[in-house]
Amino acid sequence: MTALTLDQLAAHHDLTPLTATTTCSDPQAAYQGLRDRWGHVAPVELEPGIPAWLLLGYHEICQAARDERLFSRDPNNWRLYAQGSVPPDSNLGPMMFPRDNAYFSDGDRHRRLRAPLDDGLERIDRQRLGHRIRAACAEQISLFAGRGEADLVGDYAAVVPMLSVCGFFGISTDQGRELRDGLIALFGSGEDSQEGNRAFERILSRAMQDHRERPAADLTTAFLEHPNLTNDFEIVQSIVLMISAGYETTTSWIAQALRLMLTDRRFAGDLRGGRLGIDDALDEVLWRDPPMANMPARYALADCEIAGRPIQQGDALILGFGAANNDPRIRPESGWHESGNRSHLAWSVGPHTCPASRQARVITRIAVDTALNELQDVALAVDESEIGLTPSPWTRCPASLPVRFTPHRS
Ligand code: HEM
Repeated sequence: MTALTLDQLAAHHDLTPLTATTTCSDPQAAYQGLRDRWGHVAPVELEPGIPAWLLLGYHEICQAARDERLFSRDPNNWRLYAQGSVPPDSNLGPMMFPRDNAYFSDGDRHRRLRAPLDDGLERIDRQRLGHRIRAACAEQISLFAGRGEADLVGDYAAVVPMLSVCGFFGISTDQGRELRDGLIALFGSGEDSQEGNRAFERILSRAMQDHRERPAADLTTAFLEHPNLTNDFEIVQSIVLMISAGYETTTSWIAQALRLMLTDRRFAGDLRGGRLGIDDALDEVLWRDPPMANMPARYALADCEIAGRPIQQGDALILGFGAANNDPRIRPESGWHESGNRSHLAWSVGPHTCPASRQARVITRIAVDTALNELQDVALAVDESEIGLTPSPWTRCPASLPVRFTPHRS
């Protein structure tokens, strides 16, 4: 096995762009191609001239994600970023440039900022949560139920998570829609990103003010009261983190589950026939198509080795959950059942593991269930091959799911 460094590999080889794994029709074939060529740790290109290691192996991801003393979450430890080699307007920015929150922190600072997220989520009233999500799904469906046609991504999967997560914070549906537009602008590199930021700040400051006057059993009050969050800035950043981390991921989970229902006869038949429970069906989606197919990133704090590859201090490592869930070393030749098996890596592992997997499941379960129950005779309105993917190196979310169904007034 060659022991070239990432920079040497980038200089001497044409590296596969990471998007090759997220924009193709058969991601497992793309991952296997990388495995055949490089083993369980492959050099890839995040953008032209920006190389990184893609961890394809289950064990290799667990090793990197669990060892925060050797692998940092803080992008200030990314050599290419620190050198200024990544342009400020790079599309990698929203996911990879540092922000002031738990997600981009390590060690004690991470533990201090993470505790309010875990404690707050624990305090959410489950009944009210379910009620709020059901109301958001019904409201969204009522906007297109009479038409008999809809795009189940744009009209539904991309809206319900935002309204639901806003509900965690006691933020109204109307403001949730405004926040969604703000978020899209904020994380885009367009001219309206400042306006997006201002919309966010305005709505969140208002929510904090209201909750100071009238505390509620929700996350805004939990954050306001938490001793670990020392000022309004940290509270706002924690809310922004929860809203942004929960939005695209849950959209993708709902969209992938609906896509499978509409295109995979075995999956749809098992689910409708009761042979597959909804939770097992959702886990099958997490095995096959984890919402974060490739997760940025860890940054090596010292020179080391993973699966024979020389990792240098400052290298970026991408967690390839989509590949690792199909790592041949964890899948027996026969008798493999995804149903009831939750050892997939969709939520990651280690200190940064998703704090909201339970809540994300509730949102997704209710969203999928409601769509299937409310939309009679729902069927895809285009050929399966016409379903495109939203361009991204990180996710494989269907760009749209045009459907027809029997119209009704809800
Ligand atoms: C399908 C839905 C979701 C998936 C697949 C998902 C997946 C993940 C993954 C893989 C990570 C860990 C990243 C890493 O190790 O680098 C993560 C972190 C996180 N997720 Fe989720 N997530 C989902 C929904 C949500 C929701 C609904 C929320 C909030 C309401 C949320 C909040 C967070 C936060 C705050 C972190 C950062 C935690 C930390 O750095 O300590 N996620 N998520």
